[in-house]
Amino acid sequence: MNKEKKNIFLIGFMGAGKSTIARAIKQKLGYPVVEMDERIVKEQGMPISKIFETYGELYFRELETKLIQSLNQQEPTIVSCGGGVAMRQENVDCMRDGGSVVFLTATPQTIYERVKNSTDRPLLNGHMNVAYISELMEVRRPKYEAAADILVATDGKTKEEIAEEIIGRL
Ligand code: S3P
Repeated sequence: MNKEKKNIFLIGFMGAGKSTIARAIKQKLGYPVVEMDERIVKEQGMPISKIFETYGELYFRELETKLIQSLNQQEPTIVSCGGGVAMRQENVDCMRDGGSVVFLTATPQTIYERVKNSTDRPLLNGHMNVAYISELMEVRRPKYEAAADILVATDGKTKEEIAEEIIGRL
């Protein structure tokens, strides 16, 4: 592992498994996990959908950028990024500066199954279907790919297998 690259940033679409895999990597490496959405929700004292509703999406995106910029100052950390973090080039530059960027992929059907009962994903409000998920994934894919050092497909693999694959490729 390149010692300069200390953080592990997990990126990818909503429901790609970033939180689950972050915890699985933690089991193996012992690094702490930062769950970006959770951190922002806690600091703002309201769910993401409420932040979007009250202050707008741009405000939320600024919070993400501030948080990502603070993470390279501390001990090696596994960062479960919000699904939109890699859409901003300044976030990508910051992640690539401070660690390895891992893009987790899954099929639109798998993503749908994982997020269909979610109540706090404002981007999918009124669009909770495979067709929309597939469309948005395709729009975002080039940015995820350009941001990533490593791409890992998650369909049909256990979280332990995925964690091992990532660690083996760091
Ligand atoms: C978003 C993904 C969500 C959350 C917010 C916006 C996105 O995170 O940050 O609803 O733009 O893809 P998860 O990927 O953890 O669901």
